[in-house]
Amino acid sequence: MILTRRNRILRQSSAIRSMVAETILTPNDFIVPLFIVEGEGVKEEIASMQGYFRYSLDNTIKEVKELWTMGLKCVLLFVKCKDELKNQYGNEALNPNGLMQRSIKAIKDAVPEMVVMTDVALDPFSSDGHDGVVINGEIVNDITVDVLAKMSVSHAEAGADFVAPSDMMDGRIAAIREALEENNFTKTGIMAYSAKYASCFYGPFRDALDSAPGFGDKKTYQMDYHNRTEAIKETLMDVEEGADIVMVKPALSYLDIIREVKNAVDIPVSAYNISGEYAMIKAAAKMGWIEEDKAILETITSIKRAGADLIATYFAKDVVRILNH
Ligand code: PBG
Repeated sequence: MILTRRNRILRQSSAIRSMVAETILTPNDFIVPLFIVEGEGVKEEIASMQGYFRYSLDNTIKEVKELWTMGLKCVLLFVKCKDELKNQYGNEALNPNGLMQRSIKAIKDAVPEMVVMTDVALDPFSSDGHDGVVINGEIVNDITVDVLAKMSVSHAEAGADFVAPSDMMDGRIAAIREALEENNFTKTGIMAYSAKYASCFYGPFRDALDSAPGFGDKKTYQMDYHNRTEAIKETLMDVEEGADIVMVKPALSYLDIIREVKNAVDIPVSAYNISGEYAMIKAAAKMGWIEEDKAILETITSIKRAGADLIATYFAKDVVRILNH
């Protein structure tokens, strides 16, 4: 055969392959989610997320220091609120001495350069387990947005670098930006969960925080997975309302959405490789059906290749460990 183009030339050795590789993972790509609980010396494995833990604040600080030495530069905080502090309005979310606010301060004190992002949504604090305020069985948009704006200011006051609203209420990005401006937080960023779909893959996370909805599901606020155009509409609105970073969530069943969003906006795009996506790899690896490290690298690279500038993932430390080998 006489061929003009032989594509295998660029695949013939590991050295050549690495020279022409288009997508390279680095520690700068990652956002590390952390689950924080009350107490001291606590390190509890989350049953449905093997190898991932809830830490009390003292152990969280140790973990954050380790992340920083590994080159990981950003954490995303979630707190597990005690049952007795939950109520209809999620008031504990605004407590200046709440676990979230104390955690932000302690982390910024211990590792000031670590970029601290905080989850903004009511589900961990709501007695109904919903991301918003429930009145007569309905998740009420505008009242919720008011609480979310106050919650964001409270996180900014504690020292958060970015607030990350994950609730999918309408108008919340504009309201949060306005509240931050009014309170002179001109350096606090907003990472908007812009295209967040109602997904069955959130299950393990809801175990981690004991935050499963008390009734119904989240389909009246999170997006319907049959839709694509709507993701672009949601994202462009968040950009207009003042988001600094937009997010697509989950990641794996939504790689097409990540690419379209990446092509549609001129700000960084993040993707959340969520708990169920983590659990599937862990479970198959445990059964001996896939090779865990290879599955992790292939999965995370696919998310970056799809267009994610930043990836929130429970595999961040694993990726750094594997890359350093
Ligand atoms: C809720 C929230 C969820 C996650 C992050 N923030 C769950 C949900 O919407 O029910 C999921 C993260 C994961 O599954 O890893 N505000």
